[in-house]
Amino acid sequence: MSTNTILSPDLRADFPLLSREFASGQPLVYLDSAATALKPRSVIEAVADVLSHRTANVHRAVHLLGDEATEMFEGARRKVARLIGAEPHEIILLRNTTEALNLVARCYPRKGRVLVSRGEHHSNLLPWHGADLTLVPPGPDGGSDRQAILRELARGGVSIVALTLVSNVTGAQADLAGLVSAVHAAGAVVVMDGAQAVPHQPIDVQDLGCDFLAFSGHKMCGPSGVGVLYGRAERLEQLDWYLQGGGTVEEVASGIPKAKQAPWRFEAGTPAIEAVIGLGAAVDYLQAIGLDRVESHCRSLRAQARERLLRIPGVRILGDTGGLPRLSGPLSFTVANILSHMVARALSDAWGICVRSGYHCAQPLHEQLQSPPSLRLSFYLYNQLWEIDRVVEAITRIVRH
Ligand code: ALA
Repeated sequence: MSTNTILSPDLRADFPLLSREFASGQPLVYLDSAATALKPRSVIEAVADVLSHRTANVHRAVHLLGDEATEMFEGARRKVARLIGAEPHEIILLRNTTEALNLVARCYPRKGRVLVSRGEHHSNLLPWHGADLTLVPPGPDGGSDRQAILRELARGGVSIVALTLVSNVTGAQADLAGLVSAVHAAGAVVVMDGAQAVPHQPIDVQDLGCDFLAFSGHKMCGPSGVGVLYGRAERLEQLDWYLQGGGTVEEVASGIPKAKQAPWRFEAGTPAIEAVIGLGAAVDYLQAIGLDRVESHCRSLRAQARERLLRIPGVRILGDTGGLPRLSGPLSFTVANILSHMVARALSDAWGICVRSGYHCAQPLHEQLQSPPSLRLSFYLYNQLWEIDRVVEAITRIVRH
């Protein structure tokens, strides 16, 4: 295994949680970043700074603290926009990916079928219930199956295709070659779940050509409570005004409300101000490292984990198709005859290792892959190869005993 794509272990010093001492005396091994990522000091300090020195509401007050908070909040929006090649007014700041996908599912006018892969995270499945839904089987790697989507498009009557960029279970990366243009040629729009992609690789919405893209701040070193819906400007014009209230109207003369422009029309009530500003700091942090480097780092860790895990008798990696496509996302596996929750508990309590166990909010995908609940390792920029060795050693011992 070449280590030249591995980021410097010095980055670990940026994450205070990694130096926490546990009663067991074990060093913490955190391999659950697909659920939520650890936060670097710069993000923690940005949030603390707002709470300590800059508390004020945004877009309302005409006073110096209000001006400052509004400028920092909108500055964070601009950073997020630049990160993905969008314009600031195309960035809606919501709570998380789930809320962003629900907003599109509820408010984008549907004039036909919605195509969704059966392998999606529940957050990109459940919001579409009630639509004229066609569930497309995922490919053998657990990702959306491009050919199956193209076949459904050819049957006609499709208005929305919703797909994930990187599976939160198998790490499969969507094969998009020619897909977005085919969707548009069919008169439909593409909604992308980027929750596991935007934190891990350079993403440009112009290159993707997507109409909507959803992702969460907390999986990319930002605070929880802020997520993003990117919508192409003309698509946002088509979205219904959903949550109404403070901050969304120009005026309410004679009781007739006049909605603000996007994105503010969709940001009702006081937003998660410090979380949004913290997300701006997270974007700065990731860009200073380089998302291309984060991607190759995580790919190297994943490749090492795969290779070592496959040597353990009884281990089955979900969606592992043998060849190694561009997998940098999470890796899920089962251990024959041992419940995933029991392994996760033992890893935590005896080894100080945090992994996720269960269905990872993707039960239909587990059914499709004929898998019981699984264990998931997910990697980020602060992980190192010794942590892979440690988790593999621990699982080997658990299997033996
Ligand atoms: N969606 C997050 C995960 O996959 C919580 O773990």
